[in-house]
Amino acid sequence: MARFMVVGGQRLQGRINVSGSKNASLPILAATLLNPGESLIHGVPQLRDVDVMCEVLQYLGARVTREGGTIRVDAGQINCWEVSEELTRKMRASNLVLGPMLGRFKKMTVSHPGGCDIGSRPMNLHLKGMTSLGARITEKFGYITAQTDIVRGAEIHLDMPSVGATENIMMAAALSKGITRIRNAAREPEIVDLQNFLNKMGADIKGAGTDIIKIKGVSSLGSTAHTVIPDRIEAGTHMIAAAITCGDVTVANVIPEHVESLIAKLREAGVQITVGDDTIRVSARGRPGAVDIKTLFYPGFPTDMQPQIMALLTMADGTSIISEMVFENRYKHVSEFRRMGADIKVEGQTAIIKGVTKLSGAVVEASDLRAGAALVLAAMAADNGSVIENIDHIDRGYEKLERKYSALGARIIRVHS
Ligand code: UD1
Repeated sequence: MARFMVVGGQRLQGRINVSGSKNASLPILAATLLNPGESLIHGVPQLRDVDVMCEVLQYLGARVTREGGTIRVDAGQINCWEVSEELTRKMRASNLVLGPMLGRFKKMTVSHPGGCDIGSRPMNLHLKGMTSLGARITEKFGYITAQTDIVRGAEIHLDMPSVGATENIMMAAALSKGITRIRNAAREPEIVDLQNFLNKMGADIKGAGTDIIKIKGVSSLGSTAHTVIPDRIEAGTHMIAAAITCGDVTVANVIPEHVESLIAKLREAGVQITVGDDTIRVSARGRPGAVDIKTLFYPGFPTDMQPQIMALLTMADGTSIISEMVFENRYKHVSEFRRMGADIKVEGQTAIIKGVTKLSGAVVEASDLRAGAALVLAAMAADNGSVIENIDHIDRGYEKLERKYSALGARIIRVHS
């Protein structure tokens, strides 16, 4: 198990480049299964979750080759219609192959993902969507099979704008007979990127980015090349890194519109933000002001930024309240922040954070990807040194994080035990 050793107290300064989006890359890689030929995806970050998705594609019979940030997938020889439990355990998003496999082959078996560290995360909305498209669903020994003779367009109303369910339905319906409308669809930028990729392959999809997506099924999809959008959660994490270390950092390769809710909250907290075309300069002096946060579906404040903004608010001048509205159990980082001297009380879905003047270094453990990133932020701002255990979680979603922050002046090294 690897860990980070961090010596806090350095002001981050300089320019940092954001990698391609993990959460756009995963569904787009899954969508390559819809094409019996070759697809070329550029700008894919080198991350563990991407490795797992490539493993899933290979397991199904696709040929996957990688050169830097470019991944070539040839899905001409698919010879397996089931994703093993082992792969699903490595990454929940492995289940994003359900939609494209049902769309192209009319059958697919995935393993039930069960719960995870941030909540129960069921798949009922994915399955309701597949059922509406004509699939029969059977569940046996922890595996879910979706099967049909024909995928037919349908009117689907999601109880909740689930990102994964919206993506799975879009991919299955792309090759259906007839028209599908997803109402109360997720509006995340990653959904728009998936629509753009599918349309380049020959699909006929409109409305991504709004809450109604219309998919006119086509009979086949073909080869194309696509570059994924920049990662808005990585960008947001760097913006907080600048603010929490009272630094001055230009975050480059970012789409400012994708991080508007964070920009608004940082400005409210007194952080200086200058927005360019594809850059955001963040500078701060002294403690931030307290702000209240409610996580919501896009364009609301992202749940994937909740642990990082909490790191900043632990040192705010005043009391902040965070309401976590998307996941029911996303406060595992709180106990670790407390070890660093933070004053946080959790009541149900609400966290009350009384700002302290300074955190102090401690040995802490990353419980999940974003919680891990938040601990790095806190450790960079704390007095003394910290050790962050279990950083495998961080590698799932951040490309060379320690190198990027070291280049800005942070003192952080990776230690393999
Ligand atoms: C995606 C992101 C993840 C982010 C999350 C919410 C990827 C690979 N992951 O995850 O980083 O934290 O969106 O922004 O893109 N739900 C149901 N039934 C379902 C599906 C979801 O009740 O069938 C609930 C979940 O429990 C959760 C909420 O809907 O409370 C949102 O989940 P969802 O949008 O589906 O998240 P993911 O797609 O898994």
